[in-house]
Amino acid sequence: MTMPRAIYPGSFDPITYGHIDIVRRARKLFPKLIIAIVANPNKQAFFSVQEREQITRDALAEMGIDDVEVTSYTGLLIDCAHKLEASAVVRGLRANSDFDYEFQMALTNRDLDSEIETVLFMTAGKYSFLSSSIVKEVKRFGGDIASFVPKSVDDALTRKLADQ
Ligand code: PNS
Repeated sequence: MTMPRAIYPGSFDPITYGHIDIVRRARKLFPKLIIAIVANPNKQAFFSVQEREQITRDALAEMGIDDVEVTSYTGLLIDCAHKLEASAVVRGLRANSDFDYEFQMALTNRDLDSEIETVLFMTAGKYSFLSSSIVKEVKRFGGDIASFVPKSVDDALTRKLADQ
């Protein structure tokens, strides 16, 4: 039997402790987990895709996670899953408000390929309010984001904001 392989797709703009919690838990079910960062989201990203890849790698290293790959993709998520030979798509579910979108995405992707399952992980309660957008907003206005993101991510935000 081949090792179950999953991708964890998203914007990761930037990665937060909420994402990292999902990575740690998904890793227990999927020996091979690949973070796939979308390069063409509908929304304009704050960091470039190359920056997001590097920030994600640095954050994982800082957290002592050394067995999760990071890549990026353009186009359809399901095509990326195929290319990486993944049999599952991992996503995190926070509040009720995430549900409709995740449900729509999971069903669309199942329609596109019924062999690839979407697996949703309920967020840890303490991160249920957390999002990359909130992190950027708090940081932009000088708030302390140390409990939301690893230090390397905080530093990357400091540098990016200083460059603007
Ligand atoms: O972190 P996000 O922004 O919630 O991630 C959403 C993402 C990137 C996973 C999703 O928008 C995506 O995969 N887009 C790529 C295009 C695609 O496959 N669209 C159809 C999915 S229903």
